[in-house]
Amino acid sequence: MQLIKLNAIDSTNNYLKKLLLETVLEDFSVVVTNHQTQGKGQMGSDWVSEKGKNLTFSVLKSKTSLLLHQQFMLSILVSLSILKTLEGYNIPKLSIKWPNDILSDHHKISGILIENVIKNQQIEFSVIGIGLNVNQETFEGLPKVCSLKHILGFPVNKEELLHKLVKNLQRYFRLFSEKGAAVFTNEYESYLFRKDKPSTFMLPDESLFTGIIRGVTDSGKLQLQLEDATKEFNLKELTLMY
Ligand code: BTN
Repeated sequence: MQLIKLNAIDSTNNYLKKLLLETVLEDFSVVVTNHQTQGKGQMGSDWVSEKGKNLTFSVLKSKTSLLLHQQFMLSILVSLSILKTLEGYNIPKLSIKWPNDILSDHHKISGILIENVIKNQQIEFSVIGIGLNVNQETFEGLPKVCSLKHILGFPVNKEELLHKLVKNLQRYFRLFSEKGAAVFTNEYESYLFRKDKPSTFMLPDESLFTGIIRGVTDSGKLQLQLEDATKEFNLKELTLMY
C-alpha cells in the first residue's frame, strides 16, 4: 500500500486530487494526516477533527469501470467497508444513515466524502475521503457525535485501524467486480438506519412529514413509503430527524 503521511494539510481529498494531476499513483494509494486545517464534509459543510486524535484520510480508487450514473455504488462499498471494519472492534448497534454516515446507536462515528474525476461519462478516479472519530474524547456542541474510545472505553491504535480499513476497501471492491451490484445494495439496505420504522423528515421549507424508509434506488435516492405512495428523494430534498 502506497501511504503518504502528512503532519498537516488543508484537506487530504484536495491534496490527493492535486497529486493525481502530477504523478501516477497506485490503486488504493492513501494520504493520511494528523491535522486537517480545512476538512470538507458533505454538501459544503466542514469536517472538524481534533489534531492527532482521529483518522482523516483519502484513498485513491482508479479503474472502477463504473459509469457516472452508477456512482452511488461507491458510497455503498465504502460504507460497508467501514462498517465491517468496525464490527471487528465490537462496536455495537452499527448502522448507515443514508447516504453514508456510519452510526453506532444514534451517534455518528464516521463520515465519507467521495469526489470523482469523470471522463466520457466514466468514473476515471475516485478520491474516497474518510473521517473516523477514533480517540477524541469530547465533541462540544455536537451531541450526536462520538468516537470509538467513547464507546469502547480505551484508545484504539490508529495505524492498525487504517490498515484494516484499506484492506476491507480492497476486499469490497474486489468482491464487487466478482459479484455485481445487487448483493451489495441488499447488504447496504440491511444496515440502513431506521429502515422499516416510521420516521420524521424535514423538507427544505422546514415542514415535517412522516415516512418509512424502504430502501435506495440505483442512483442513491432514498425510497420512502408515504401514506398513499412510495416516493424517492435526493439528499438536498430532506433531512431525517432523530
Ligand atoms: C461528512 O460526513 O460530512 C463527510 C466527512 C468527510 C471527511 C473526510 S476527512 C478526510 C477527507 N478530507 C476531507 O476534506 N474530507 C474527508
